[in-house]
Amino acid sequence: MRKDLILEPWHIKMRSNDWVDDYAETIFFLGNGRIGCRGYIPFEPENRPIQQGLFLAGTFGEIKPRITDFVNLPTPVFDRILINNKPGRLTSEIVRDLDLEHSILTFEFTLNDTIQIKAERFFSSDDVRFMIQRFTIKAPSNVSITIDTGINEESCNCPVPDDQVKENTETINLSKRISLTHHNDSLIAKYLITGTHLKITEQLTIHTNDFEIKHTNEALMHLDAIMNPAASNDITTYSYEKFTQINSSRDINLSDSTPDVISFQNFYNKHLDFWKEKWDICDIDSNIIVKEFENSAKTITALRYNIFQLINNCSRLDPTVSIGARGLTHTRYKGCYFWDTDIFMLPFYLATDKEAAKNLCMYRINNLDAARDYAKKLNLSGARFPWMTSFDGSEQCETWDIGCSEIHITADVVYAINNYIQKYNDQDFYINHATELYIETARYWLSRYTYDSTGNTANLLFCKGPDEYCGITTNNLFTNVMVQHNLRLAIKAASDLKQDNTKTYNRLGISDSEIKAWSRLEKDIPWPRDPESGHLTTDDTFHLLEKVDISKLKPDDSASYHTTCFDRLQRYKVVKQADVILLMTRLPELFSKKERLTAWNDFEPLCLHDSTLSFASHALFAVQNGITDKAMYYFSKALFLDIYDVMNNTGKEGLHMAGMGEIWNAAYFMGLLKLKP
Ligand code: BGC
Repeated sequence: MRKDLILEPWHIKMRSNDWVDDYAETIFFLGNGRIGCRGYIPFEPENRPIQQGLFLAGTFGEIKPRITDFVNLPTPVFDRILINNKPGRLTSEIVRDLDLEHSILTFEFTLNDTIQIKAERFFSSDDVRFMIQRFTIKAPSNVSITIDTGINEESCNCPVPDDQVKENTETINLSKRISLTHHNDSLIAKYLITGTHLKITEQLTIHTNDFEIKHTNEALMHLDAIMNPAASNDITTYSYEKFTQINSSRDINLSDSTPDVISFQNFYNKHLDFWKEKWDICDIDSNIIVKEFENSAKTITALRYNIFQLINNCSRLDPTVSIGARGLTHTRYKGCYFWDTDIFMLPFYLATDKEAAKNLCMYRINNLDAARDYAKKLNLSGARFPWMTSFDGSEQCETWDIGCSEIHITADVVYAINNYIQKYNDQDFYINHATELYIETARYWLSRYTYDSTGNTANLLFCKGPDEYCGITTNNLFTNVMVQHNLRLAIKAASDLKQDNTKTYNRLGISDSEIKAWSRLEKDIPWPRDPESGHLTTDDTFHLLEKVDISKLKPDDSASYHTTCFDRLQRYKVVKQADVILLMTRLPELFSKKERLTAWNDFEPLCLHDSTLSFASHALFAVQNGITDKAMYYFSKALFLDIYDVMNNTGKEGLHMAGMGEIWNAAYFMGLLKLKP
């Protein structure tokens, strides 16, 4: 638990004596959705090539055949200062200040008691190719100041194993420099990414009137302050601005023209216009929060912070990328895309940014062929989406049980796309893209279910639900109900295609008999019930599990897999995260109020909340079902999850984007936003 952030209505600040603090580096992450960077400090004297974290959406490199990691790129957050030819000594607190309203990050500190440094940075939200930095140094006029500035090319990855408890220490450099050219005030470095052969260009330009620029043989420039001997007792202010344009060979929907004016102020003004418009749509309703929350001031900041980071981690113009479980803030889970985007984050973009929401759906459509290949590889029909995936739609999950059996993701994708179509009535998207995906996924399900000997029940064997502590089980309720929803949409899609687009209908070779088979399957999928109480339950084997005293298994909010092994957890009567009750938040109309409240009474006490998604889903369920006290309890827990490092993993893992999305969902239903349900 950390409580050292200063929360102001539009700012998150921290004062500390340390350059290095991985929690602060996560919290002070800043990006523009396409590029982002952890909150480390440009003048930090130590080189930390693994932690510096500059990420570009969709940029993955191979760490072993067909397995990728999210590339920690060479970074232009790299400045070293010499004061009278010697490195400076930190003599003040470092003040970190994240301005949520204008999306700019500032660091201020003093070296050698007299040299005051201010470093500002933002990622242009108007022209998402650019990262912009400005440095202001106030020093006694008789002191000589020299700066080395440029790109730190030592960045490397330290791939995090999928197995949550394993640590890795082996590093790998995934970007090799292939060319370097220097011009007057700029340099251009090109890099090749291992395995995926992507090419990244970083063009760095320095603007200054106060320093003389000298090039070196590396991706660095040497800046000598132009001293003013006449003013030897006064303070002189030196400044330089650093613009980095980052391009990749996989760029899409980006301008390729050079901006008219390259200046901090010019970029910043346009950036501010973007943020003003964003906050007009996305801001919270502070009056309601003041009325309803005891700690309203902190709630206001925390909620704004969640919204801010949802915006900063979505590459809204790019239909070929999704949002990793930790966004652009960390390489945890190898930067992969999960159901986190489709189920937990998409509602935010659906409500606030049609283009972003459409592109996130397009990302799935663009990977339909890869999903077909995956189904084929598993000896099945149709299309099956991977549990974890990166740039090419292939499966990236390396743990056999979760990767093979947590198959609800395929139905989750369909659920998400349907929500986009319902919200915007985008008939073109529906007929030309979505219908094919619905049909191919229905084909997959038909081949994946197994009819029993009566021929009346189709079981989902060898599956795992969102509750990853269920072992490998049969008929997970969440999955079964989402699959039925998928099948109903496919049946309707087939009939709509027959009417409106016979070309596609024929191309897909849809037959009446397969539509009948989907209908039959939809009816024959069982809903598991507890044999004693008759209540809806997680799956067919839940009642067999061993009862356990949860207070002993989980004395605090850290995940219990740190102290109890994963294998053992599979046999206890616990749930890792919201499962049945999550389903009831997504398709509430399928369940009676009584069924929903019964499920809450049955499963809320058994939940370990070992996933960061869980508190927020409980808050959402509680608010949707009028359980007000619990709604407030879970909402506060989830809202401050990263800000207070509740689960002790924010620094080590990055921001928990799906939790942030789900908190937004809960806030929306609680009426805490300008947008009302
Ligand atoms: C959760 C999954 C989630 C993944 C990435 C896991 O701990 O159980 O539901 O998709 O983290 O956020």
